[in-house]
Amino acid sequence: MTYSKIIGIGHFVPERVITNEYLESIMDTTDTWITERTGIKERHYATYGKDTNASMGTEAAKIAIERAGLTPQDIDFIVYATITPDYYFPGSGFIMQRELGMKGIGVLDIRDQCSGFIYAISTADQFIKSGMYKNILVVGSELQSTFLNHTNEGRGVAVIFGDGAGAVVMQATDNEEHRVISTHLHADGTYAEDLYVKDPGSSRPKRFYDDLVDDNTTGDVFMNGSVVFKHAIVRFPEVIKEALNANGFKPEDIDLLVPHQANLRISEYVRQQMGLPEDKVFNNIQKYGNTTAASIPIALCEAWESGRVKEGDLVCLAAFGSGFTWGSALIRW
Ligand code: ACO
Repeated sequence: MTYSKIIGIGHFVPERVITNEYLESIMDTTDTWITERTGIKERHYATYGKDTNASMGTEAAKIAIERAGLTPQDIDFIVYATITPDYYFPGSGFIMQRELGMKGIGVLDIRDQCSGFIYAISTADQFIKSGMYKNILVVGSELQSTFLNHTNEGRGVAVIFGDGAGAVVMQATDNEEHRVISTHLHADGTYAEDLYVKDPGSSRPKRFYDDLVDDNTTGDVFMNGSVVFKHAIVRFPEVIKEALNANGFKPEDIDLLVPHQANLRISEYVRQQMGLPEDKVFNNIQKYGNTTAASIPIALCEAWESGRVKEGDLVCLAAFGSGFTWGSALIRW
């Protein structure tokens, strides 16, 4: 039987640090409001003209490939999760493929928002299990700062998000012990408009930018914060328990839970619901804000680098986000 396992991991964040104090100087907000509501103290923003979604994904991928002991030429396929591609199309995975000199191999764009990386891991796992590919590069990258509304009107959303990228290399293995054990994916489109960006969309009779002239807020992120919160705190524990139950584990078997870094209050609520001690849940939203599809690989990478993920650990990745989408991946490291 063929399984998949993670053999290399890397992340990249742009060097520009945006503190809550800086945001206080450009909009009507406070460090106290942001910290109490979200746990975020700072986030990293791309430098225009230097960092792009694809360049950040490329940097993270280079580290993951090197740590896997491979070269870009060993990679058979790319799965690239983002909702903030460099262009409306094609996706940033194609640009990264070009930059890494991997011409010819397939690239799959995933846009499942905050759950994008879980969907990407699951997709790669299936391709490997089916025997189609041996080494797959899986990337989550987001450059969100350029479309945040940094006026008072957009402050409820703008303070939450940041930029960055993370990547893993997944490889085929016949080792039944150390592998991706299972993945679980869900969605409920009932709530599509509770967390969304309307433009550039094709849902208008006119070209979308004609509408943008009339209403320049349609390109902003709209978030119904309380609805997102209510669903997130139900779906996170549900999909973590689904992963545990499917494999005969209990919450206490988890060595590390790496949740999508949506909001520290959500992570804390989920931790309590699952009955997990603080040292079994990894959070770094304080430093990076919410980096959407990049948040799980960045957090997993930092957890691994700091020794919080060790050989033999049972690691659970879980996400909830726009769509609504939610999912989990259970991994024996
Ligand atoms: N600074 C100061 N005041 C602000 C800010 C800000 N940045 N943003 C909004 N406010 C004000 C509002 O205008 C409002 O003022 P009013 O009472 O005078 O009208 C007040 O703060 C409360 O606003 P709410 O939107 O009700 O704030 P709430 O307490 O609900 O917190 C938050 C907002 C943090 C978004 C909360 O709803 C939440 O945690 N939602 C979960 C969603 C989430 O975390 N999403 C993350 C991204 S999505 C994902 O990854 C799944």
